[in-house]
Amino acid sequence: MTDNDFTFVDARELDTAAAYRMVIGCVVPRPIAWVTTVDGRGCVNAAPFSSYNYVATTPPMLAINIASREGTEKDTARNIRETGEFVVNVATEASMEAMHACGENYAPGVSEAEALGIALLPSRLVKPPRIAVSPVQMECRIDQIITLGKGVNTLFIGEIIAFHLSPDIYDGKRVDSAKMRPVSRLGGPFYAGLGEIFHRPMLQRPPGGEGWVAPAAGVAVNTKNTS
Ligand SMILES: Cc1cc2nc3c(=O)[nH]c(=O)nc-3n(C[C@H](O)[C@H](O)[C@H](O)COP(=O)(O)O)c2cc1C
Repeated sequence: MTDNDFTFVDARELDTAAAYRMVIGCVVPRPIAWVTTVDGRGCVNAAPFSSYNYVATTPPMLAINIASREGTEKDTARNIRETGEFVVNVATEASMEAMHACGENYAPGVSEAEALGIALLPSRLVKPPRIAVSPVQMECRIDQIITLGKGVNTLFIGEIIAFHLSPDIYDGKRVDSAKMRPVSRLGGPFYAGLGEIFHRPMLQRPPGGEGWVAPAAGVAVNTKNTS
């Protein structure tokens, strides 16, 4: 492969749609935050966001980029701005259809959770409830709201103030991602599961210095060095 074989795209010349297509194709797989919020009247909103990741550990923080819709804020963005609170529920294979359906544009004041019959559980420290089917739910309080670039995108950085972990995926010490079966988002209308899991020894000690334990029985882990 030589330099001439590659397609060069000057990103500075892309319009919003082309840049979106390019970035969601290149940055894959993306975890999905299935976010619950409440509006001023207590109406529960649920929507998925894959421009999302954890961004800090001390304290634990995560960030979600929410784009505007025809120049106005999406319900999730408006609710977080108004209440300062949200819950991130991890989307899994078991909940993929309901999570995907929440991506539809419901009118403000209409609860996706109610419309789609999504079972909820109360949170402990924030008003937005948790999605019961999700094996990991994180209660968050907003830390910073940052308008990005030309103003289409806004980054919501939240501090995780509580984790709720199902015994199906948590043994009291570690979260078992193979058992969790998270779904991720690819470019276009595609999702992906975990696929093959590769194991390599840790090269640096993680915070706390502890290593990692063997995966659950029945989970295929590739330890072969193929390079
Ligand atoms: C899997 C998936 C991932 C999505 N990721 C994002 C995202 O990262 N940012 C965003 O603004 N919209 C994203 N969307 C679109 C929103 O979910 C959609 O606009 C939704 O209607 C917003 O709901 P709300 O107005 O109730 O907040 C995604 C949709 C799906 C199905």
